[in-house]
Amino acid sequence: MNGSISIAIDGPAGAGKSTIAKIVANRLEIDYIDTGAMYRAFTYKLLCKNIDFNDEKTILKELEDTLIDFRENHIYLDGKIVDKQIRDNIINQNVSYIAKIKEIRDGMVRIQRNIAKDKSIVMDGRDIGTVVLPNADYKFFIVASIEERAKRRYKDLLEKGETTITLEQVKEELEKRDTIDSTREIAPLIKAENAIEVDTTNQTIEESVDTILKIIEGR
Ligand code: CDP
Ligand code: CDP
Repeated sequence: MNGSISIAIDGPAGAGKSTIAKIVANRLEIDYIDTGAMYRAFTYKLLCKNIDFNDEKTILKELEDTLIDFRENHIYLDGKIVDKQIRDNIINQNVSYIAKIKEIRDGMVRIQRNIAKDKSIVMDGRDIGTVVLPNADYKFFIVASIEERAKRRYKDLLEKGETTITLEQVKEELEKRDTIDSTREIAPLIKAENAIEVDTTNQTIEESVDTILKIIEGR
């Protein structure tokens, strides 16, 4: 491929964004950035330090003292890999409240644009096509039915050994997070005007990846 290419992938929780984005990046031999992991990492830090989510002043001070980076498929928090910790259900339940705060979003967007500067990239999240990379070469909006997304997430949690949660609870939590993400004032989850919608409800991962690669490669 000639020149650098940027691919923005957005959509609701459990639609398949990160799975697809990672494989697409791998096939194109370019970098992948999981922006959700960054919001999750910061949420993890606040929970570890027992910081009150209503105390914005302390939260912002904490952000100033925090180093977040995503490279080679790993999320770094203050220099330490926290891939596993950020997937706990407690993070799912809290992250959207932190991701609503304007100053936090500004800080994350700055880091994300900086990572994406001057190189080919696949980036996934909620506001990539609308805010972080509005001039991306390709924008995709990945969706799937709530039933299918809940089933997938439930399976993921069971595989991680999380046995205390029911499928119905997973569904409720996904819906709640989608509502907060889609209705927040700053950078809500919406389909960018020129994004291509891909519905993965009845697709295998390989079919979803192929749909996207065909568009990018003009096949
Ligand atoms: O993997 P999943 O779709 O469940 O979530 P994620 O991509 O890891 O994102 C976790 C949360 O971070 C989302 O529910 C949003 O609240 C927030 N987020 C955001 O606000 N903007 C982004 N670009 C990425 C994530
Ligand atoms: O990043 P996002 O929250 O949108 O979803 P994900 O974490 O990539 O995918 C959620 C689950 O759905 C994972 O276990 C994927 O393997 C699975 N998946 C699937 O079964 N079929 C697809 N077409 C895409 C993802």
